[in-house]
Amino acid sequence: MRAPSTRRPSIDAVTDEQRPYGGGTSDPALKQVRTRHFKRAKESGIKITGLTSYDFMSASIFDEAGVDFLLVGDSAANTVFGYDTTIPVTLDELIPLTAAVVRGASRALVIGDMPFGSYENGRRQALETAIRFMKETGCQAVKLEGGVRSAPQIERIVDAGIPVMAHIGFTPQSEHGLGGHIIQGRGDSAAELLADAHAVEKAGAFAVVLEMVPSEIAGQITKELSIPTISVGAGPHCDGQLMVWTDWAGFGGGRLPRFVKQYANIRETLLEATRKYCEEVESGVYPGPEHEYTE
Ligand code: KIV
Repeated sequence: MRAPSTRRPSIDAVTDEQRPYGGGTSDPALKQVRTRHFKRAKESGIKITGLTSYDFMSASIFDEAGVDFLLVGDSAANTVFGYDTTIPVTLDELIPLTAAVVRGASRALVIGDMPFGSYENGRRQALETAIRFMKETGCQAVKLEGGVRSAPQIERIVDAGIPVMAHIGFTPQSEHGLGGHIIQGRGDSAAELLADAHAVEKAGAFAVVLEMVPSEIAGQITKELSIPTISVGAGPHCDGQLMVWTDWAGFGGGRLPRFVKQYANIRETLLEATRKYCEEVESGVYPGPEHEYTE
């Protein structure tokens, strides 16, 4: 089992009592991030880090670097399958991706994302979907969208012993109902967002994603809840941050939302490498003698 190559100073700086993941790289507790560590991180003021991942190799890189959790997001609809929205992606499409991410991660907590149509029918359908994720992929938690409206489903899944990460604010599966990619929780709708946050906490969620929410209201929710808040465009006051890795690493190209900070330009690197490869094959530079087998 691999320990992360570097630990963030904030984690190393805290006392044993405060350490969310144990006391150093030799500590057995470092081998697997669990949902209880999320709560401890919030209590200790240590920020939680998350990225999406959809395959074995990216998962193994993010895990080795020490990211705390990997979400196999239904954003795979866009990034892997090329759909325009997250609505068409199915459970059968997400299950093999989630299993691959689990195989790539030793330490990070892996979360399967319940796709549109796999939990809206009620508590029973939601539990069946969560059970499929747990049994067929080996992930350690599931995520689903919706606050007050999804609280009964969250409660049922949690009752069955399956950890749930909730997701409120802008919920992409409802983009048509919400009228597009619109910031949630502004003005009068702040009260509704607060009600959603309290509903998912009461239902037993271990953490809640706040997507595209003004920083002030996200900060208020973070103060009022005992479970950690995870920001996707909800500002710096949340207990952790989550990014869609293909945006974050500049894989996809195109216009990115304001909240995305691009940490690499993988698309440009691959474009350059591909152009060079084509040139070298066409001109006979590749393969050279060092790439040939001899008798
Ligand atoms: O599918 C996804 O990647 C997500 C995050 C953006 C929260 O749901």
